[in-house]
Amino acid sequence: MRNLYPVRPSARLAARMSAVATSPTMQVAGEAERLRREDVDIVDLSIGEPDFPTPRHVKTAAIEAIERDFTRYTANSGVLELKQAVCARALADYGVEYTPAEVIITAGGKQALYNAAMTLYGPGDEVITHAPGWPTLVEQIRLAGATPVIARTHAEDGFALHAESVIALMGPRTRAVVLNSPCNPTGALVSEADLARIAEEAAARDVWMVVDLCYERLIYDPTPHNLPRVLAERLRDRTVLCGSASKAYAMTGWRCGWMLGPADLVEAAGAVQSHSTSNVSSITQKAAIAALAGSTEPVEFMLHEYRERRDRLFDWLAAEPRLRGLKPAGAFYLFVDVSECLSPDGVRTTTEFAQRLLDEQQVALTPGEAFDAPGFIRISYAAAPHRLKEGARRLLDFVKRL
Ligand SMILES: Cc1ncc(COP(=O)(O)O)c(C=O)c1O
Repeated sequence: MRNLYPVRPSARLAARMSAVATSPTMQVAGEAERLRREDVDIVDLSIGEPDFPTPRHVKTAAIEAIERDFTRYTANSGVLELKQAVCARALADYGVEYTPAEVIITAGGKQALYNAAMTLYGPGDEVITHAPGWPTLVEQIRLAGATPVIARTHAEDGFALHAESVIALMGPRTRAVVLNSPCNPTGALVSEADLARIAEEAAARDVWMVVDLCYERLIYDPTPHNLPRVLAERLRDRTVLCGSASKAYAMTGWRCGWMLGPADLVEAAGAVQSHSTSNVSSITQKAAIAALAGSTEPVEFMLHEYRERRDRLFDWLAAEPRLRGLKPAGAFYLFVDVSECLSPDGVRTTTEFAQRLLDEQQVALTPGEAFDAPGFIRISYAAAPHRLKEGARRLLDFVKRL
């Protein structure tokens, strides 16, 4: 897998940095932000961030935390009440039992996954994940000194992850399998049946299963997706569940996530965290309790809105046969095959496609190279509907002129 944005090689930096890239999705968003500051009318469909405000009851809980001076260090692993709220959700949503000793509160889902990487993998280990996929998963494996091994999924069958393609990659050095469902950027779900097959093989080989469930509240149709239960029934003592408040509750800036796993792993993650970031902001933790334990109405409302946007965007782009997309089952991205728009004497790659679209039409989106999927573009529809419409119009205009 090619690093799109490698860190500049330098003898001044630690050797591990030579293997790691900066976040390509953040790079595109940074470029869009720079242009916006110059008053360019950018339609930014690059960032995976809800445009909705954080729900009122969540904000109120945070304001109360400040007013009550709940502004000091908390336990490194999070306050008990929040861990209990995470356990209560796990029981209500999946029917699996976790105790607070099996939970650590983290600075977003990213840190939950990072803690898992630091505590589980190291040099000599292979860690299987899938592509097209979210680049951070691969970079965290590299940061831990381990080697990522990639199972590919394909547009032809809706980017389904087939158990056999993962199992075929398992060998004596396999330490873990890291799965993301719903998947960023494809929106595909890992099926319970495929996960069960993978988990059975992992259990037989003492391999860890790490699951990134950051988008699991954003699944559009009632599809069976109780991945925690599938894993709990097969290898609970080697299962790590990573979740986040960011996308479901429109809380990206608050930085709150969680990791659930066996108590010894959670304790080890606590050691990593205690020497790096320590506890998540006390105010954020109070807000997260309100999000997890409070009304689910805002989540349902946002899901409804995202569904409408997905369907509308899909219909608009259907006017151009060279843009071939599939309706995602979850998350809020349309992953579109634009390979028919590329040519050796025109726009050669999707990185060039994204750059020219930004330069000529001021639309920011993320090229497939960022997700190890050249030939595709990712359009985030977590944007205001009128901006989405304008972005689609400009994109269609751009493609027409190619
Ligand atoms: C697949 C996936 N997992 C995890 C995250 C982590 O988000 P956060 O750290 O904001 O919880 C993201 C964010 O974009 C994501 O796309």
